[in-house]
Amino acid sequence: MIKPNHPFLAACRREQTSFTPVWLMRQAGRYLEEYRKLRAQYGFLELCKRPDLAAEITLTPVQKLGVDAAILFADILLILEPLDVGLEYSKGDGPVIHHPVRSGKDVDALKEFNVESELSFVYDAVKQITKTLENKVPLIGFAGAPFTLASYLIEGGGSRNYLHTKKLYYGAPEAWKRLMERLAKIVAEYLNCQIAAGAQAVQLFDSWAGCLTPMDYQRFVLPHTKSVIDAIAPGVPVINFSTGTAGLLKQIRAAGGDVIGLDWRINLDEGWATVGHDVAVQGNLDPVALFASPKEIRNRVADILRQAGGKPGHIFNLGHGVLPETPVDHVMAMVEAVHELSVR
Ligand code: CP3
Repeated sequence: MIKPNHPFLAACRREQTSFTPVWLMRQAGRYLEEYRKLRAQYGFLELCKRPDLAAEITLTPVQKLGVDAAILFADILLILEPLDVGLEYSKGDGPVIHHPVRSGKDVDALKEFNVESELSFVYDAVKQITKTLENKVPLIGFAGAPFTLASYLIEGGGSRNYLHTKKLYYGAPEAWKRLMERLAKIVAEYLNCQIAAGAQAVQLFDSWAGCLTPMDYQRFVLPHTKSVIDAIAPGVPVINFSTGTAGLLKQIRAAGGDVIGLDWRINLDEGWATVGHDVAVQGNLDPVALFASPKEIRNRVADILRQAGGKPGHIFNLGHGVLPETPVDHVMAMVEAVHELSVR
């Protein structure tokens, strides 16, 4: 069993910890030489589908950085592959969906699949990772939130204005609802399978929710994110992460989660006051701050810790993922600064 006082899990439950726990989104990624070496040998999907390699990639930063949580190496789009929409991790512009979903007919044509058997490689990786970690460091599982997944499916790739996505909910709200319900069901089952395999917390990535008006979030997104969170195995902390949502925090909070992710576009103290101190928060260093000098990084860490004010329920993180060009020694300096400056 995990030690009940493990700092990351304790902070998720808003219990007092002896220092502020820290991990980083994309801590297992291209800024690490070890990852780039493996990536030179294997395709991205291959890395995701080989549990031994996914486990190795997940564990490297835990050993190297001394972070307080591991995050599964995978991608939010893996669950779209069995829908038969032509997912391809192409070079250059990021993943592409060759048959984007643009109508009610397209929604109804999405293939039914078995979440447990078709994505078993993910749960196998979770099992290998948790076996190696021996409960010394908790493993965070994750999935894309229904909105961010739907946007990718509808746009067929990254997007600036989310034109097709918004056109679908304006013009065909029933089709939108069917799509979001379908995705919510898949995501909830997928996360519960990761939990059954050993993940001790889960994070929902709604990285693109910042494009929404508060009213549209409330009407077209919130019920579906909420249905995922409500379906997660009881007792397992859920982190509700998004970016660019400083103006949506009340609605994000209403969707649920034990921990609310805050990005750097809002002061942590203001964000925490907005979501309420009866929930934990995660964040919120600007990922680009890691390009500043270690001294400046330390100042900025100190500023965020000062805003958190030693209240229970703060998990230190970046406001979004580590950028590929980030110097590794600066990441290490950040983790060290959090641990040293937050000792209580
Ligand atoms: O924090 C983590 O490390 C968890 C794993 C994770 C990855 N991607 C690994 C990854 C998570 C949570 C994601 C999120 C993701 N993936 C999103 C949400 C937006 C965000 O960044 O929060 C989206 C839209 C995707 C789809 C995706 N996968 C894109 C757009 C890309 C290419 C862009 C990029 O950063 O390379 C990927 C590939 C990807 N996913 C990589 C990694 C480590 C890089 C793969 C490589 O080696 O080329």
